[in-house]
Amino acid sequence: MKLEIKSKEDFPTFTARRILSIIERAVDTHQHCTVALSGGNTPKSVYEAIARLYPEYDINWRRVYFFWGDERMVDIDSPQSNFGMATRAFLDKIPAQPFNIFPFRTDFPLDQAASDYEEKLRNHFDVITASGFNLVLLGLGEDGHTLSIFPQSYGTRLRGEWVYGYKVDDVIGERLTLLPDLINQAEHILFLVNGKAKAPTVQKVMFSRFAPDDIPAQLIRPVNGNLEWLLDEEAAELIRPKSKASN
Ligand code: 6PG
Repeated sequence: MKLEIKSKEDFPTFTARRILSIIERAVDTHQHCTVALSGGNTPKSVYEAIARLYPEYDINWRRVYFFWGDERMVDIDSPQSNFGMATRAFLDKIPAQPFNIFPFRTDFPLDQAASDYEEKLRNHFDVITASGFNLVLLGLGEDGHTLSIFPQSYGTRLRGEWVYGYKVDDVIGERLTLLPDLINQAEHILFLVNGKAKAPTVQKVMFSRFAPDDIPAQLIRPVNGNLEWLLDEEAAELIRPKSKASN
């Protein structure tokens, strides 16, 4: 596991460069790169940095495929949409190919949207003969959720499936999420976490005993790939190595 701690100011650019270099190397090595994007607020500034920095990287964007790790069951033009946020922040500002971008079909009924996405993923990995993503971006909720796998939800126990759609509760509503069996096949898994409020959860995920029902983020364990935590100084304050955080 790799840990990078950056100042709030440096985090977006550092993380954007890490993402772009992984994509660049994957296309060089495999002639394709399949990415699972995360949602929520944290990645927005990183996506905006990608939109600024991408020309510095030699990437054939026709070989880059974008999926999402999870989605809210809202219209794509809703401010809550993870697809909408990523599109506004960077996808419509880089030479990504529209036919290589795969949003969840939130216009379908929940179960159909989940099975539709699972079929799209299985077809995609069959065609490019890969077993999983080259790059997965993940966030972390204060309650220990990641993707849209929430504590005490059935999603923490599902095995053999790749996509799950369910109603989390009356407040969060319905969600679609990829599951660990697929995520853990990835080559690179990056947790992007910012803010003081997340510090106790980061510490719990990393150092408390394995309790995935309570801390679903602990389900993320790459089979052959690598796991990287990219944190700002506030999110890292309870796990920071003794030496000064690197800038
Ligand atoms: C979502 C995300 C979710 C998110 C965490 C952290 O759809 O909301 O996929 O897992 O990454 O809730 O969200 P913030 O970055 O907004 O704190």
